[in-house]
Amino acid sequence: MNSRPEPVTTDLRRRYLDLLAGCLSRDLFLNLDEPWVDPADRNEGRDWPKGAETMIGRRRLDNLIDCLTVVLDDDIPGDLVETGVWRGGATILMRAALAAWEAR
Ligand SMILES: C[S@@+](CC[C@H](N)C(=O)[O-])C[C@H]1O[C@@H](n2cnc3c(N)ncnc32)[C@H](O)[C@@H]1O
Repeated sequence: MNSRPEPVTTDLRRRYLDLLAGCLSRDLFLNLDEPWVDPADRNEGRDWPKGAETMIGRRRLDNLIDCLTVVLDDDIPGDLVETGVWRGGATILMRAALAAWEAR
């Protein structure tokens, strides 16, 4: 067995954020939690989720991940802020990105 840890790459970090986005939006559990939800509506952020931590939908979460990747890979200085948090899902995703890139 190879005991050398795998290097943490941008691809690995994005896969983690992608999984988290699926959890925060409940995109991954639609059939279990809200079988009546139209996946297209959730994707576009057009519904009002019962249990999800974010209402912005998968498409905007994916865009946020793209933006975070550029900011953190290019070491762009500054802060991340969400104005209008609802249940805080987008902020949770941003905090996770900071942790994944080991940024503060
Ligand atoms: C479309 S939701 C987005 C929520 C959040 N970004 C997410 O991940 O689900 C917009 C949020 O902004 C809040 N909001 C709208 N206008 C606001 C204002 N003037 N000041 C503070 N919050 C506001 C709303 O109450 C709501 O929670």
